[in-house]
Amino acid sequence: MNDRKPLVVANLKANKTWEEVSSWLDQVAPASSSFAGTIIFCPPLPFLIPANQKIKSANWRIKLASQDVSRFEQGAYTGEVAASQIVEIVAYAIIGHSERRQNFNETEEVLAQKVENSQKAGIEPIFCIQGPQNQIPQAVNIVAYEPPAAIGTGKADSPQNAQGVSQKLKAKGNYTVLYGGSVSGQNVQAFLEKDVIDGVLVGATNSLDPAKFIEVIQSASF
Ligand code: PGA
Repeated sequence: MNDRKPLVVANLKANKTWEEVSSWLDQVAPASSSFAGTIIFCPPLPFLIPANQKIKSANWRIKLASQDVSRFEQGAYTGEVAASQIVEIVAYAIIGHSERRQNFNETEEVLAQKVENSQKAGIEPIFCIQGPQNQIPQAVNIVAYEPPAAIGTGKADSPQNAQGVSQKLKAKGNYTVLYGGSVSGQNVQAFLEKDVIDGVLVGATNSLDPAKFIEVIQSASF
């Protein structure tokens, strides 16, 4: 990171009650107030609205992202939430996380539709890829490289390998590149020291416990 303004994304996945999310914000927000980069918080969908209200009323510098969006625009799609329905609340949306690809059979075609709908609505996709084999839909700006073997295992990819992948991505497009997979307070600096890695995506391993996530933020400030 040359400009030392990394994006640090906290993806809570399907964890926590609103009380716990609220307490998470109370603990993390003071620690993030002096952070030079951007903190992007992704609580479960129902908590985006109260989280947004809390962040706004306290004037915290935390941005919100949804963990997914529908492939459809508004209409007869029971259970779905369209990008156009959350645009007032979130600035970003994670799209293509490996857990969605695996558990919900999300194909490259479906993901391209999600990206398109997000962009139409004015939400910036954070597009996850598991490796160079994945296609990246046109007009994606932020790509998160997340090798599945590193997710939730405590076995992060090597910073050198992530650097190589990021270099290849940047040769293909003008992407902001994040690394994700077992990012911790201990290893985050080694990733962000690489000029081509612009931020990190922190999943359940070190985002659920506010103290561990604060360690990540603090170690990302160097
Ligand atoms: P992890 O998850 O930090 O728990 O490895 C990363 C992710 O799923 O994005």
